[in-house]
Amino acid sequence: MQAAEVDFNHLGFSYIETDYRYVARYHDGHWEPGRLIKDAQIRVNEAANIFHYGQGVFEGLKAYRCQDDSVNLFRPGQNAARMQQSCQRLLMPTFPVDEFVAACKAVVKANLDWLPPYQSHGSMYVRPYMIGLNGSLQIHPATDYLFSVFAFPVGAYFKAGFKPVDFVTSDYDRAAPQGTGAYKVGGNYAGSLLPEMLAIKAGYNDCVYLDPATHTKIEEVGSANFFGITPDHTFVTPKSPSILPSVTKRSLLALAGDRFGLKTVEGDVPIDQLATFSEAGACGTAAVIAPIGSITHRGKRHVFYSETEAGPITKKLYDELVGIQYGDRPAPAGWITKVPTV
Ligand code: PLP
Ligand code: COI
Repeated sequence: MQAAEVDFNHLGFSYIETDYRYVARYHDGHWEPGRLIKDAQIRVNEAANIFHYGQGVFEGLKAYRCQDDSVNLFRPGQNAARMQQSCQRLLMPTFPVDEFVAACKAVVKANLDWLPPYQSHGSMYVRPYMIGLNGSLQIHPATDYLFSVFAFPVGAYFKAGFKPVDFVTSDYDRAAPQGTGAYKVGGNYAGSLLPEMLAIKAGYNDCVYLDPATHTKIEEVGSANFFGITPDHTFVTPKSPSILPSVTKRSLLALAGDRFGLKTVEGDVPIDQLATFSEAGACGTAAVIAPIGSITHRGKRHVFYSETEAGPITKKLYDELVGIQYGDRPAPAGWITKVPTV
């Protein structure tokens, strides 16, 4: 496909091969200089750790075309830092934060033709990842690694866009209490395919995971963190060592407190106390904010604000976040990195 053939106004969330990706290899204990290449295929040895033992981590962030045609990256340093934590958990070499950010900027700039126009409300999803390229088939870390960044244009992650989604709790666990849930490692997502498929087959948009130790508290969705808003304007989001520390969630906590005067709490969200919330949402880079219409738990459906409309505070948070990302509203210091376009 050519960039000119993309229908930017009707994008979902699905990989499209764009022109350039960044690649850097780790060999002999150091990162070799990275570069942009056109080839989207990778040749990897059959014994590579990524295939057998899942030694791979990834990230997700977005680039936005602003009204003045300049280009924003949203908080790339946060993703760089989180990738370093994921790498440390899987005994992989870390990739320097400034080089991670430079690589993301270079990939967006090289693929500018694929960046949706401002009016389309689309964006460019940037996917950095790192994989173990070799292995002995003993359960040891690889010695050689690939760090790469590619990018493709996206629209809404959940088909409905900014419309309420319906979730069901899963009896499966996404992560173990001291496992890898707090890290962006591919294996977490492999394990979530079956529960997600079951939820979708049952007519829901996705499933909500409960805490693996007691199954009494909300953890998160397979692709986004959870938040709830109480009638007395408190923004509540789960605190757990086994959920992914979401950049979007962290950003919403800051905006809710600093710009909207909400009280913010990171704590337990018991699944039997959903009535505490007048609104709820799922937040993440791909999901942005998906208002949650309902959560069904053990056959009982709890409706939050409405099954058809987002609640007013969820809407305000969404407008502020997206406004910042597209450069229409002032960003807190350090949240926006400009991508050079010439
Ligand atoms: N939780 C999971 C499991 C995710 O995959 C993601 C997506 O990255 C999130 C939460 C949201 O994190 P972020 O806001 O950093 O994209
Ligand atoms: C993201 O929001 O960046 C994610 O990684 C979620 C999903 C696409 C895996």
